[in-house]
Amino acid sequence: MEEDRPLPENRLWQPITAKWFAAVFGAAVAYAVVRYHFAGDVPWRHFPLFILNKASALAAVFFVACSYLIGRVIKWHNDDPKRKLVVVKFCGLMGFSLALIHAFFSVCLLTPAYFAKYFEEDGRLNLDGELGMALGVVALWTLSMPAITTLPMMAKALGGVRWKRSQRMGYLCLALVLLHLIVLGWRGWLAVSHWPWWLPPISLIAALMAAFPLLVKLSQSKER
Ligand code: HEM
Repeated sequence: MEEDRPLPENRLWQPITAKWFAAVFGAAVAYAVVRYHFAGDVPWRHFPLFILNKASALAAVFFVACSYLIGRVIKWHNDDPKRKLVVVKFCGLMGFSLALIHAFFSVCLLTPAYFAKYFEEDGRLNLDGELGMALGVVALWTLSMPAITTLPMMAKALGGVRWKRSQRMGYLCLALVLLHLIVLGWRGWLAVSHWPWWLPPISLIAALMAAFPLLVKLSQSKER
């Protein structure tokens, strides 16, 4: 019987992960709703895809950033390396799955009607659009590396050095996401007087989140 099987040691303990997911995704949805529906002028009919896309993207960056901050800045379970690894894995996989949702949502939405600023008049993507999408696709690919190598058999199959290298691909992902956000968002970041209720765009918040683990990594490798 399924219930009689012993649970693996240090498994992802579901009630806590569900609460963390609900808290992070809930906060991202709440910010997107306030900024784009209440303060901005996005009609409510665009909540299911356009607004949830923004919330998924923000939560994805938050989780990926956290997975590279645990142990360095977030000293959660530092005294228990196995449990710490479980939390790191949870954050990384949550980030990856939300980034996948964001990618699928974005492809559904990618039309001049939603994103006129990324298109030429003839309906093709302009330079910002092409560069932004290319960076997003490659960022997603780099994130798939650490995600795939969390599979139990992969550590043995790759060996310690290559496994660690694949995990570090997440830093490359964060750097590419940062560029993805700069290309797609910088014009909006500078137009401060157009920010509804002075609330910063989600792309700017996410860019700061993506930059933080990169800066921490840089400063810690300089100290060594
Ligand atoms: C196939 C891959 C990807 C595609 C096609 C894609 C597409 C897009 C598009 C069209 C936008 C503009 C959305 C908007 O202004 O509402 C966007 C913004 C964004 N993307 Fe991506 N992206 C991809 C990968 C990623 C990845 C891997 C991440 C992070 C892990 C990411 C994080 C973000 C964030 C945080 C925003 C800002 C959302 C906003 O401004 O509201 N993207 N992406």
